[in-house]
Amino acid sequence: MLNPKIGIIGGSGLYKMAALQDVEEVQIETPFGSPSDAVIVGTLEGTKVAFLARHGRNHTLLPSELPFRANIYAMKKLGVEYLISASAVGSLKAEAKPLDMVIPDQFIDRTKNRISTFFGEGVVAHIAFGDPICHNLAGVLAEAIASLNLPDVTLHRGGTYICMEGPAFSTKAESNIYRSWGATVIGMTNLPEAKLAREAEIAYATLALVTDYDCWHPDHDSVTVEMVIGNLQRNAVNAQKVIQETVRRLSENPPPSDAHSALKYAILTQLDKAP
Ligand code: ADE
Repeated sequence: MLNPKIGIIGGSGLYKMAALQDVEEVQIETPFGSPSDAVIVGTLEGTKVAFLARHGRNHTLLPSELPFRANIYAMKKLGVEYLISASAVGSLKAEAKPLDMVIPDQFIDRTKNRISTFFGEGVVAHIAFGDPICHNLAGVLAEAIASLNLPDVTLHRGGTYICMEGPAFSTKAESNIYRSWGATVIGMTNLPEAKLAREAEIAYATLALVTDYDCWHPDHDSVTVEMVIGNLQRNAVNAQKVIQETVRRLSENPPPSDAHSALKYAILTQLDKAP
């Protein structure tokens, strides 16, 4: 039987989980089309998990092309209650250096071209999103990272993730504005995922893996794909260790999450009268 309670979305560089056993590829159709790829359901630390490569296993989808709604819908359909999202990011703070890990607790939306809700067309709902990351899931992630003592990796707990549209990286003027806002990291994918996961009542946390200093740092060259790829490999190895340990801890002691009842007071439409 499938029924994984833990989902993992792997970003740039993390296209599969080597430690997954008894793997099954599941093609899932949703009202929002197909997800980025087949969902890989398998066993990690004796626990069923669902893994999805966000950009497809051969990295064929731009951030603006991602089927965010299909991806989250597919996780929900499989029964996922906790979603860990691993994502490559640029750093906007000197202390968050390449290879470090950040667990953000806030987002700023700089996207222009994304559908970030399941609602509309007759059903109106406004989810609470003041705390967009599940605090308890983020805590398990943080404890897992701390327990591993990964060489050359500092964990930064909390911070703001700027979600930009891309695909071009930022200008220096933009990067410096984001720094003046106090933001910690920049990426192109996590905010729509976090919103949709909340609407789907799935606890969501971001594991942000720093690959570069974007383009603001006077002592570092501006970010290039070559630079990002240079650090992706080591980040992906570390991320898999962190995810494995997080899954072990989650399955032993699944924490409560406000996200699991996010729709309780969110829906305005009288559903018995909805079209
Ligand atoms: N992903 C990795 N590095 C990035 C950067 N500097 N800006 C946006 N997304 C990124």
